[in-house]
Amino acid sequence: MRLFLLASILAVASYVCAHGADERPATTEELIARNRGIEARNLAARKCASAIAEFEAQRMAKRDRLMKRQTPTSTAPTPHYTSIQNSTCVLHPETIEGPYYIRNEYIRTDLRERQTGVSLVLDIGVINSRTCQPFKNAFVELWASNATGLYGGYPTGQPTHIKTDTFLRGGYFTNDAGIVEITTIYPGYYQGRTAHIHAMVHNNWKSGANGTLLSGQGNVNHIGQFFFDETWNDRVYATSPYNLNRQPRTLNTQDWILWGAGTGAYINLQYLSGSSLTGGLLGYITVVVDGNANYRIQNANSL
Ligand SMILES: *[C@@H]1O[C@H](CO)[C@@H](O)[C@H](O)[C@H]1NC(C)=O
Ligand SMILES: *[C@@H]1O[C@H](CO)[C@@H](O)[C@H](O)[C@H]1NC(C)=O
Ligand SMILES: *[C@@H]1O[C@H](CO)[C@@H](O)[C@H](O)[C@H]1NC(C)=O
Repeated sequence: MRLFLLASILAVASYVCAHGADERPATTEELIARNRGIEARNLAARKCASAIAEFEAQRMAKRDRLMKRQTPTSTAPTPHYTSIQNSTCVLHPETIEGPYYIRNEYIRTDLRERQTGVSLVLDIGVINSRTCQPFKNAFVELWASNATGLYGGYPTGQPTHIKTDTFLRGGYFTNDAGIVEITTIYPGYYQGRTAHIHAMVHNNWKSGANGTLLSGQGNVNHIGQFFFDETWNDRVYATSPYNLNRQPRTLNTQDWILWGAGTGAYINLQYLSGSSLTGGLLGYITVVVDGNANYRIQNANSL
């Protein structure tokens, strides 16, 4: 047992060394404790399976006009999927926050701003493992790198916040069916990491008068990352501007965070029109979170 713990600590430590500032856990103890809790919570979540199975089968809803920046009272687009898709109800793996989070980002359903790349319309279904029901009014916040692998607010790639860009950050809250639709672009890759989108789920969340999330308030039920099948990565990364990225690529099979995140973290993708990336992609993922969890946000940088 002690040997195993030591091995885990060494694995985490060597990862941090090998990857420099990239995706550093706050403390080794925190990461290990978090992962230890996941198995117990997964057992509890499996009990949800029968309740979830009662929800309707997959339906596609007409796409609504997407809006740029929104306040909590403005209308969100109707998601393509109108009901939760995945009835397995296994807790979505917790992963580390990483060094590129920024607090108090805009409440909006379109995160693209001026970033070019393959449009990605993401329908995210959230289930609360404590109630076995769709998690209504849960704020789903996303952040990801742009097509050439740089995060908004961290233009050098180092975790030094420069208050300029807000692109590919922000989020919106789930509807009564527990689903939220957020438009972003397919993320690029950067040194040491495969393609991924960071996600945080907040409940009892608060917003500022200026239409931003107040990140430190309410509860953080989940901190995770979404991944893509390598065949989709290959397709997207062959196109411009992704192919201008000069950083070395890391594959899914080489990504240490993805090993820990397991199979539940993949986005199911399809073309939005025909079989061409130019029409954009529609992705669906079900995120099962512990509605009673309250994780601590590490990063103090804010908008
Ligand atoms: C990604 O962001 C960086 C930093 O802001 C910027 O220099 C670069 O042009 C962006 N990439 C694309 C494809 O727009
Ligand atoms: C929005 O308002 C909050 C307080 O309500 C403040 O902390 C934050 O800096 C403001 N953000 C912007 C971009 O003005
Ligand atoms: C449903 O979720 C499970 C566990 O999270 C995952 O392994 C599986 O691939 C998902 N199935 C679909 C169709 O999304």
